[in-house]
Amino acid sequence: MILGIETSCDETSVALLEHDGSVRVNLIASQIERHQPFGGVVPEIASREHLQHLFPLVERALGEAHADWKSIESIAVTAQPGLIGALLVGVAGAQGLAYGLGIPLMPVNHLEGHIYSPYLRPEGAATPLPSRFLSLVISGGHSAIYDVRGRDVRQINRTRDDAIGETFDKVAKFIGLPYPGGPQIEKYARTGKADPKRFPFPVPQFKDESLDFSYSGIKAGAIRLARENDVRADGDAAALGDFCATFQDALFAQLFDRLESVWSRLESPKPAELAMAGGVAANGVLRERIQAWGAERGITVRLPEKRYCTDNAAMIAFAGLQKGSPSDPRRVQARSRIGDAA
Ligand code: KG4
Ligand code: ZN
Repeated sequence: MILGIETSCDETSVALLEHDGSVRVNLIASQIERHQPFGGVVPEIASREHLQHLFPLVERALGEAHADWKSIESIAVTAQPGLIGALLVGVAGAQGLAYGLGIPLMPVNHLEGHIYSPYLRPEGAATPLPSRFLSLVISGGHSAIYDVRGRDVRQINRTRDDAIGETFDKVAKFIGLPYPGGPQIEKYARTGKADPKRFPFPVPQFKDESLDFSYSGIKAGAIRLARENDVRADGDAAALGDFCATFQDALFAQLFDRLESVWSRLESPKPAELAMAGGVAANGVLRERIQAWGAERGITVRLPEKRYCTDNAAMIAFAGLQKGSPSDPRRVQARSRIGDAA
């Protein structure tokens, strides 16, 4: 079995996977309640919580899988990108275990964890990866599209400013909804009706032919509209619902606009599959819309199960199986940004 460890942000997660990709256990100790009073993740609290939970979680995972230490054959750990103090807890823990058990350690890029997650098949009988797919990663830290051919991951676009999940979180915080904001906005959006006349969100336009996402304009517009119309979590319920529905629509309109541009500019033969991943991919409205988008164009859309959209160690172990290269445990380094020195 392979042990996966994820501590890059605010969830401590540990998973055990068979080498065919089937998930034996995937445990997540969420710190959301600890960070909620501050309206976002506090790095020092995150590191301390990881330190407290990591090893008890590994022991619990072994217990639930009826396995012992000797059944761990390799370890995959998120080494980048993320909060450096948080990453260090996972990496140092994984190094100690790998060294002590005399097994290989594979550093994993968190984004690649998300990228391959739509192909994670928890019950085993893992679907083989297609030779090529288009990947849309939308999370609290990233919004980007990749052209993936096996182990080769090429970035096509990215966000110029805020990530889409971050935009959900910041606007939710402004109107007084608890962290994380994405699921909250989705919940209240269901109670309202999108009305672009009442809440005219700006549509970001670039002068160049850029394929990049941009969310800072929608964020600034949302904060201004919320202030002008006095939209608050504890205010008028109808206004809150309509605001959330219109805001969510504006975010997704931008997403589809750029996805369409990327798709139309890809040379033939185009990839046959689109795999959406990351925390925002848990959004039910978006899941329906992207399925419809794919169906109209004859593209197979792959979605991770909702529990594998937000951060988890199963996807890290899975990415380790797909493209991890075993490293000398002593040489693995945590890096806050991709390719940066810690
Ligand atoms: O992938 P993730 O757990 O962490 C990062 O790697 O960033 O994503 C967390 C993000 C948060 O911004 C959260 O608000 C957003 O995913 N999110 C959602 C939903 N569930 C989580 N956004 C929209 N709708 C949701 N249902
Ligand atoms: Zn993530």
